[in-house]
Amino acid sequence: MSWLDSEQRYGAVSRAIHWSMATLLLLMLGTEWLAELVGMSEREAMGLHKSVGVVLLGLLVLRLLWRGMNHGRLEAHAHWKWAARLGHLALYGAMLVIPVSGLLAALGSGHGVELFGLPLIAPGAEIEWLEEAAAETHEVLANLLWLLIGGHVAASLAHQFWLRDHTLKRMA
Ligand code: HEM
Ligand code: HEM
Repeated sequence: MSWLDSEQRYGAVSRAIHWSMATLLLLMLGTEWLAELVGMSEREAMGLHKSVGVVLLGLLVLRLLWRGMNHGRLEAHAHWKWAARLGHLALYGAMLVIPVSGLLAALGSGHGVELFGLPLIAPGAEIEWLEEAAAETHEVLANLLWLLIGGHVAASLAHQFWLRDHTLKRMA
């Protein structure tokens, strides 16, 4: 097993980060629905949503650092290289701006943010314009993320079943 990416395959660390973030992101997108399913109060669910969201922001930083360290190790794409770059860039952009706008929305709401009970942003005065703008951004981009994930999964499946190359295997 290789920790680092190799020419033919993403390494163990890249794969672990990709799949744990993918799982957590889908859970985050389904927060309201999941809370209802397990009978959690909105307040409890929002607390958990904020904590997991901060963890995802940390994982993103780790992922980008690790990606930089592995630069040039993985073989470049043969097919539609620019489409893949653009799609991945959009996913990274959404994974950055969504939690940052969430933090700003929480700051603007005056409710503050805790990371599993550890205070990160103290409760304070409400800043209405900030809350409105940030919550709107958060919501619009969360909807966009659904589309990006859909396109990404479709591209993976196209590689596997249509182009029949190793793209899905090297992340599996
Ligand atoms: C990358 C991770 C995140 C995803 C995918 C995500 C996704 C979502 C979604 C789908 C909603 C429901 C939108 C709506 O219909 O109103 C929401 C609401 C919210 N999220 Fe996040 N979120 C993330 C991270 C965060 C973080 C880090 C925070 C703050 C620390 C946060 C704070 C909030 C708040 C305050 C709301 C309610 C906004 C409102 O008033 O409408 N989120 N988020
Ligand atoms: C749900 C949220 C997901 C997000 C945000 C996400 C994001 C990403 C990103 C940003 C990359 C590029 C990695 C790099 O920098 O090289 C990537 C690669 C990849 N993802 Fe996902 N992914 C998600 C889910 C999935 C799912 C469900 C599948 C499989 C059906 C999948 C299959 C792949 C594959 C095969 C690659 C490697 C592509 C390549 O070789 O360039 N991803 N993903």
